[in-house]
Amino acid sequence: MNSSNNTVWHRATITRTHRERLNTHHALVLWFTGFSGSGKSTLAHAVEDRLYHMNCRTFVLDGDNVRQGLCSDLGFSVQDRSENIRRIGEAAKLLVESGVIAMTAFISPFRTDRQRARGIFPHGDFIEIFCDASLDVCEQRDVKGLYRRARAGEVKEFTGISSPYEAPLNPELSIPTGEWPIEDCVDRVIDYLRQRNVFSGESDGG
Ligand code: ADX
Repeated sequence: MNSSNNTVWHRATITRTHRERLNTHHALVLWFTGFSGSGKSTLAHAVEDRLYHMNCRTFVLDGDNVRQGLCSDLGFSVQDRSENIRRIGEAAKLLVESGVIAMTAFISPFRTDRQRARGIFPHGDFIEIFCDASLDVCEQRDVKGLYRRARAGEVKEFTGISSPYEAPLNPELSIPTGEWPIEDCVDRVIDYLRQRNVFSGESDGG
């Protein structure tokens, strides 16, 4: 469904490149994916904390929060998850246009949805990060008590229990969040960003 036929794209004079220059770092999206309880939000916020102290501009879009606002009309059917991820992709794209290092922490269980999100970014700007904690580990942690409720049949279509999770086949990064201490996970992400020259003119002395 496309109802934008009578709109004309307005070209800004101040572009992403200007904003990146002002920020002294590049913009991109770090797309965290994994089971509920795999540490996506924890890692995204820990990375944000580190980046903040490196004078980088960041923003985290977090599943549980976004589902209370922008996506409060959506549930957990395949179609609703797909729409959830489409909106997050578009929101993250706006953030990247604004010159920010955007991070998204959503289960985003379906490859086609993640692929579609990747497709709206310029090549190289979509960094898929698989938070690779096994279902067993996530279920044992059960931080929100939702796995127990899903096993009891009280929560329907729960990822890993009664709804599938399609692990990334070729993520830019795969991090064993179920095994590594959080600081090691953060280091891995920051190292990757360094390799990618995201911090041109970086000011953390590193
Ligand atoms: S996604 O599949 O559309 O990407 P999203 O990341 O936004 O999911 O939301 C997942 C969060 O919603 C989980 O961490 C959990 O707290 C909560 N949740 C509630 N019901 C479900 C469900 N049926 N499946 C998965 N997560 C659920």
